[in-house]
Amino acid sequence: PRRIVIDTDPGQDDAVAILLALASPELAVEAITTVAGNVPVALTTKNACVLLELTGRTDIPVFAGAARPLHRAPISAEHVHGETGMAGADLPEPTLRPQAIDAATHLVDLLRREPEGTITLVCLGPMTNLALALTHAPDIAPRIAGIVAMGGAQREGGNITPTAEFNFFVDPHAARIVMRSGIPITLLPLDVTHRAIATPARLKPIAAVGSPVTDMVVRMLGAEDRFEKFKYGWEGGALHDPLTIGFLLWPELFSGLRCNVEIEVDAPLCVGQSVVDLWNVTNRVPNALWVNDVEADAFYSLLTERLALLV
Ligand code: BDR
Ligand code: CA
Repeated sequence: PRRIVIDTDPGQDDAVAILLALASPELAVEAITTVAGNVPVALTTKNACVLLELTGRTDIPVFAGAARPLHRAPISAEHVHGETGMAGADLPEPTLRPQAIDAATHLVDLLRREPEGTITLVCLGPMTNLALALTHAPDIAPRIAGIVAMGGAQREGGNITPTAEFNFFVDPHAARIVMRSGIPITLLPLDVTHRAIATPARLKPIAAVGSPVTDMVVRMLGAEDRFEKFKYGWEGGALHDPLTIGFLLWPELFSGLRCNVEIEVDAPLCVGQSVVDLWNVTNRVPNALWVNDVEADAFYSLLTERLALLV
C-alpha cells in the first residue's frame, strides 16, 4: 500500500476523508497530524482521536500541530463545521491522546527516517505544519513522494473571501512555502470540489448502509441547516477533502492540467488567492497538477462501498 500521512483540521469533510483512507487497503495511514483551521487545534486533535477510536484504529498515532498560522491571526469556520468542528457526529470523549511530540517535528523525523520517496502527504487544512517542517529541515523536501492537497480556487472564486479558498486564506504564507518547495503537488481546489456536492440522492445509499460510521457521516453532511444550502442555494454541502483520497485511489475519475500556481500573501483584497497560470502566460515552471473536474457520481458510489466496510 501507499504510505500516507494525513495533515488535517477535522472538520466534517476532513472526517469523511480520514474514514475513506482508513477503509482503503491501497493506503497505509502512518500518522495523522492536526492543525488549527476549521476549529482550534485542541478540537481538531480531539476529533482525529475520536475518529480513530470509532474505527478501532488506535494503532495510528496522532500528532498535534500548529495552533496558529505562520504570520496571520487564526481564523476558524464554526459557521460551517459547528462549535466542535464535527457537528452532527455526537461522539463520546476519546481516551486516545496525541503523542508527546508536535506535528512538524514528527514530519521531519519520519521523512528522515523512512526511505526517500516512500511517504505521501495528504494536506486537508492550512499547510502550517508542513511549512514549519520544510523551513526547519529543507532536506526533507526531496524525500517526500508527493503532496495531494485540498486548497485553492480559480474558476469558482473563493469561499471565505471573493478570491480565496479557506485553507490557503488561513495560512497563505505556509501555502506559498509549500507551492515553492519543488515537491510534486496535486491540488484539489474548489473548482473540482464544487462539482461533487453531497446531494440527498448521493447521501441516500450511504444512509442505507446503516452502520455507526455511515450514520455519523449522514448526520454531518445531511443536516437541513447546512451552510452551503443558504450560502449558495445548493441541494447539499460540499465534500471537499475526501476528493484528495479519492484522487489517490481512483485517479482515472479526475482531470486537470499541470500549471504554475502561486499564492498571494500581501494584496489586501486577494490574500490567500491561488494565482493559476492556466494559459502559461508567465515563464514560471509548472509546480502543480491543478485538478478541475471529477466524475462525481462514480466517486460517490465508490465512497459508499468503502464506508460500508467500516464498523
Ligand atoms: C476547506 O476548508 C475547510 O473548511 C474544509 O475542511 C476544506 O478543507 C474548503 O475550503
Ligand atoms: Ca479541512
